[in-house]
Amino acid sequence: MSEVQLKTHGELIRSRQPGHGMPGELFGRQDVFDTDVEVFFHKHWILVGVTSDVPEPGDVSTVDIGKASIVIVRDDDENVRTYRNVCRHRGARLKEAGKSTVGMLVCPYHQWTYDLDGSLRHATHMGKDFDTSCRSLIPVHTKIIGTHIFVCLDNNAPQDIAKLEETMIARFAPYDLQNTKIAFEQEIIEHGNWKLVIENNRECYHCAATHPELTASFLPEDFGFCPDNLSEESLLALEDYKSRNAACQASWEQDGFVSSAVEWLDKDAVTQFRTQQLVIAGNGESQTISTRVASTKLFGNLQRRDLGDVHLWTHNSWTHVMSDHAVVSYIIPLAPDKTLVRSKWLVHADAVEGVDYDVKDLTEVWVATNTQDKHLVEITHEGTQDPAYSPGLFSPFTETYVDQFSRWYAARLNAHGV
Ligand code: FES
Ligand SMILES: [Fe+2]
Repeated sequence: MSEVQLKTHGELIRSRQPGHGMPGELFGRQDVFDTDVEVFFHKHWILVGVTSDVPEPGDVSTVDIGKASIVIVRDDDENVRTYRNVCRHRGARLKEAGKSTVGMLVCPYHQWTYDLDGSLRHATHMGKDFDTSCRSLIPVHTKIIGTHIFVCLDNNAPQDIAKLEETMIARFAPYDLQNTKIAFEQEIIEHGNWKLVIENNRECYHCAATHPELTASFLPEDFGFCPDNLSEESLLALEDYKSRNAACQASWEQDGFVSSAVEWLDKDAVTQFRTQQLVIAGNGESQTISTRVASTKLFGNLQRRDLGDVHLWTHNSWTHVMSDHAVVSYIIPLAPDKTLVRSKWLVHADAVEGVDYDVKDLTEVWVATNTQDKHLVEITHEGTQDPAYSPGLFSPFTETYVDQFSRWYAARLNAHGV
């Protein structure tokens, strides 16, 4: 019997037909997964948390990303710092994944003790000539944009994070997102490849049939959705959307908000992202079942509730910022068929549960949506691993961003010699 030659990772992605899904091996193979983690999670900027993960000096949040791990720390001067979670003595992990509060970072093995600024403060039994000054914890490239903590584990961090920063700083500014707290957080593990999680997030073809809670407030037209067989009813809905969108954009711009779409997704984009201030359906206030705010204490000094939804996509995250609350989700791949999805619901730091907001009202839309998406990702992952699977055609009307993600994925692999 002749030996079957497996295609390489690069050959597989280059064999994708334009406008079609990826070959199943790109979702299921361990070698592909290992390269994905290396390229997309260790060499690109990724979202790993929000500043309210570490609200007070001494607070620590540890995030594992493949074989790497980082500690996010609030230091005594209130700055957020990030370090590789590796002791400079014999390499032990300083902290397990999760959150804690410390005075200093003490290695559990031989108690080398680091200040929150990363410098090595004590190391016993090392002799009087031992120089602590060159044994600080290894810092990580970090950008805090609004409340979002982006890191890059590579020494050559892509420069175009500046574009994301420049675009989002102005958009997030009125919301004063660092003056917020986490009202609720959720971790789910989806039994599907990380690319299927992102593909699912980049289209709303599936929304009408599967997300009754989300579609109370979310309008698929916001991402250019335009069905090809327009019935009179959908034509009217589209016209209605267009006039509503134009009115909202004009009124937001008049109040100083920057609302138009910015896409940095293709061609030269290394740190890909998309943002836009999106219209909210119904009462137009927030992503809740009632489409009204869930928290009556608005962010910052905001005076109006009808600010729509400032959305932000990156290749490992999606964010929605409304006048009263924000939902920030990011993903970490765990295995070819396993992806961690972390979501955080933020409200004003002074908002009081039971007075200004109710956790169920605040969270029910995205808790339901995440559960529904988990199922969709899982059945798709399974199907793509079936010998009968062959990549299907994307809708040119509703899945253009899925195709775009696949092109970016191919281009980034190519740039890294895969
Ligand atoms: S490995 Fe950390 S003190 Fe020894
Ligand atoms: Fe979805």
